[in-house]
Amino acid sequence: MKRDTHSISIIGLGYVGLCTAATFASRGIGTIGIDIDHERVQQIRKGKAPLHEPQLDDMLKTAVKNKLLDATTDFSGATDTNTTFLTVGTPSGRDGSIDLSFLKQATIDLGRALRKKHGYHLVVVKSTVIPGTPTNIVNPILEDFTKTKVGPSLGLCANPEFLKEGTAINDALHPDKIVIGASDKKSADRLTGLCKRFYRGKLPPLIITNPESAELVKYASNAFLATKISFINTIANIAQQTPGVDVGTVAKAIGLDARIGELFLKAGPGYGGSCFHKDLQALINYSKKNGYNPVLFQATEETNEKQATRIVDMAEKLLGSLSDKKVAVLGLAFKKDTDDIREAASFRVIGQLRKKGAQVIAYDPMAIPNAKKVLSDQIDYANNPRSTIKGADCAVIMTEWEQLRKLKPKDFRSYMKTPNIVDARRIYDPEDFRELNYVAVGLGQRNPTGPQQVSRVP
Ligand SMILES: NC(=O)c1ccc[n+]([C@@H]2O[C@H](COP(=O)([O-])OP(=O)(O)OC[C@H]3O[C@@H](n4cnc5c(N)ncnc54)[C@H](O)[C@@H]3O)[C@@H](O)[C@H]2O)c1
Repeated sequence: MKRDTHSISIIGLGYVGLCTAATFASRGIGTIGIDIDHERVQQIRKGKAPLHEPQLDDMLKTAVKNKLLDATTDFSGATDTNTTFLTVGTPSGRDGSIDLSFLKQATIDLGRALRKKHGYHLVVVKSTVIPGTPTNIVNPILEDFTKTKVGPSLGLCANPEFLKEGTAINDALHPDKIVIGASDKKSADRLTGLCKRFYRGKLPPLIITNPESAELVKYASNAFLATKISFINTIANIAQQTPGVDVGTVAKAIGLDARIGELFLKAGPGYGGSCFHKDLQALINYSKKNGYNPVLFQATEETNEKQATRIVDMAEKLLGSLSDKKVAVLGLAFKKDTDDIREAASFRVIGQLRKKGAQVIAYDPMAIPNAKKVLSDQIDYANNPRSTIKGADCAVIMTEWEQLRKLKPKDFRSYMKTPNIVDARRIYDPEDFRELNYVAVGLGQRNPTGPQQVSRVP
């Protein structure tokens, strides 16, 4: 790998670590990725992404070819660089509290390696962690294993990540902001310098604060976004009970109010992905331990969990009993353009459909290999949308893939046993589907027993 004074290392090559590594390398900054997963490392060394993320494969291929990116399982690789980002997973423990075991182990292994290094090294916690983690957990481990005090020779910063799967590369290259929570001025200056080099004079708004505030910024962002989704789903459920009302019209109108904003007002099956649920649980748990119960976020989570039941209820209303009915689930990934199924709403819906005796067949353009690791043969899988709905009693749209948008009413009519459609993502125009048994989240029917007749704001 090409090395210069700005070379960096990244520990944990998952969605965040690998996208961060690829974008650093794309800016000419020598990058070493370190992961404990040998297979993953081998794949990355060949320039092949072990996960689906638009643009990532091409970027990785170029970076490896240009010798700007290498991957290894050997932590001593970090000593050839000046800055190490920690991007390992921080999942939920059993009680919802944050599980820091990966972060602790990665810090121990990094600390051991850095003991042999001469010269200043900056450690940056990019994983999402509860406030106090860098100062109270990472700092003592680092000091213990490097035998160096955090300060003049060893820097420590928090630098939470805000990228979104599906647009991760673009988000990493053009973030809305950068938040640096620094233990001292030297580490803040070092990380700011690296950011300046990365963004080549077009530095996004930069917030420099202490590590605790930086971590709370991350949780506050995710809690706000998750709450916005549960809010619009609540309005959707009220709209759905109200003949002639479409939540899309309501969302569009309220979104024009600058105080509210138009983004994250799409009603649907509830949020998924690796972050919102886990981070809300960690925040609730952290706050409760400190003596404050954030009931708003409890309600956000409860609303989200119950949204799956709403989707299944819609199918049940169309079909009567679900027992022995063939239900086609279109989309498994938690959103389009990713193969990530973590906390996907589709799994909550599938679980409930199966409990009610339905036979589930599912399709997703990217996520079936991951889904099989969790569901194995509990459901059937199809190779394309049309073979999924063939002979089905009901189709449930769970992910907003472009490929699914292309299905026409005639496809559902000609392939399905009965064209019952539950559009949990609201991807179709109800006017086009008025001759079919079409229901969508947040769409109030004009005649509860008849087909849909409500027109939608585009
Ligand atoms: N995925 C997102 O969209 C997203 C967005 C913003 C922030 N985050 C946060 O970033 C962090 C990473 O998330 P992710 O989705 O990339 O996780 P991930 O599960 O996709 O990847 C984690 C990687 O860390 C590796 N790892 C685990 N223990 C290790 C160790 N001791 N040493 C080296 N490598 C180790 C794993 O093998 C894996 O490759 C989390 O804290 C998450 O909350 C995620």
